[in-house]
Amino acid sequence: MRPTAKKTLRIDEILFSQGEPGDCAFIIEKGRILIYFVKDQEEIPLSILGEGEIFGEMSLIDNQNRSASAKALDECILHFVTRDQLMERIDGADTIVRLLMRVLLKRMRQNTSLLTGNKSSTQQSSKTPAQDDNKQALDQIKLENEIYDAYNNNEFHIYYQGIYKTETQKILGCEALLRWVSPTKGNIATNTFIDIIESSSMILPVGYWILEECFRDLKSIQTELILNQQNDLAEDFSMSVNISGKQFNDPGFIDQLEKIREKHNVNSKHIKLEMTERIMMDGTVALETLKKCRALGYGISIDDFGTGFSSLQYLTKMPITHLKVDRSFVMKIKTDSKARAIVKSIIFLAKSLNFETIAEGIETPEEHQEMRDLKADYVQGFLFSKAIPLKTFISLVKKKADS
Ligand code: C2E
Ligand code: CMP
Ligand code: CA
Ligand code: CA
Repeated sequence: MRPTAKKTLRIDEILFSQGEPGDCAFIIEKGRILIYFVKDQEEIPLSILGEGEIFGEMSLIDNQNRSASAKALDECILHFVTRDQLMERIDGADTIVRLLMRVLLKRMRQNTSLLTGNKSSTQQSSKTPAQDDNKQALDQIKLENEIYDAYNNNEFHIYYQGIYKTETQKILGCEALLRWVSPTKGNIATNTFIDIIESSSMILPVGYWILEECFRDLKSIQTELILNQQNDLAEDFSMSVNISGKQFNDPGFIDQLEKIREKHNVNSKHIKLEMTERIMMDGTVALETLKKCRALGYGISIDDFGTGFSSLQYLTKMPITHLKVDRSFVMKIKTDSKARAIVKSIIFLAKSLNFETIAEGIETPEEHQEMRDLKADYVQGFLFSKAIPLKTFISLVKKKADS
């Protein structure tokens, strides 16, 4: 237990000794701390630590006794870091970072015990939680490498799901969705790997590859429609592409986006950049970049609307063109009057701000009818079509217009 958040030490005052149990770490605000061990009644220095450095953390992380002693070389001001304060940060870190830390700590203890001649007790305390965590880190790296290999082996594909005018059920666009078709495991659910791609640097090459695929395919869809004498549809048809925070933040994003678009000779008015409400709000998306995209003619669509954060202020600041009502509300619309009220309010809000609305995840004719009643502009969902490969999608678009 710590009496206060701060501790002052006199010169030569011993803070703790090697072998004692550790209950907190310290950050030095002022003065120097000597880390040392005693051998044959002699003090052997390990390190001198100064302002801003942390110490006493090892025993908290690996649950062992103090690996060395600490005493003040000057008058010192120290700030306590409790076990909880430290562990909540460590627990929130990436599994690989945690693995790295354990390994470094173990090596440090081994080195210290070589110097001191004391046996390191690292082995005996490698308990199950750490082992579980090591296994998790291994699984994570295995999956990351597997995903990387899959990308290099062309196992990634883009499928397209139709977006329809609510009133007429006329197809007017599509959302591009990433698919991993493994030769050994078959179709792998996007939710199980997209976060790993998005949280690693892989998202940049994969993201630009997605844009290449999408814009090339958009051109194919438009060309096929024109060949099929569906010129009006070719003119109205637009494609929504999901963009993650890291992609959007890449300093070269707009240049690359424009380069790929020009290469495939498609018009930005036919492209919607779809970003989740979460990244729009957490400061990830720079307003300036968003404004540039909008000025270049791209549509800006907010995905999963209603699931993010509470402030709606950003809606007035950002150049948004579309709101996507999240499936979690749509699926409850018939059974939960509150969910229906939320959808109604979202649509009302969007209309007041001059945004168009797309209701996601429509699975039943009843849900479709609700969207008609509530006047959502567009609908998307399994009731109309699932995400399908380009060729099949083109046939669907042609057939839809013929019928
Ligand atoms: P999302 O952007 O919200 O995409 C909609 C998801 O809902 C898709 O899942 C789609 O297949 C599914 N869906 C559409 N209609 C229905 C329906 O009626 N019922 C049900 N149960 N589901 C429906 P999918 O393709 O598995 O994608 C999951 C998430 O992965 C996406 O959610 C998106 O956040 C991310 N994602 C997919 N493709 C990409 C991509 O190319 N780039 C990025 N950055 N993220 C992507
Ligand atoms: P802990 O084992 O809790 O208590 C002693 C602290 O001294 C330890 O945490 C580290 O913060 C620090 N320490 C141990 N060995 C070294 C070293 N070789 N160099 C610098 N600091 C050390
Ligand atoms: Ca989406
Ligand atoms: Ca969505």
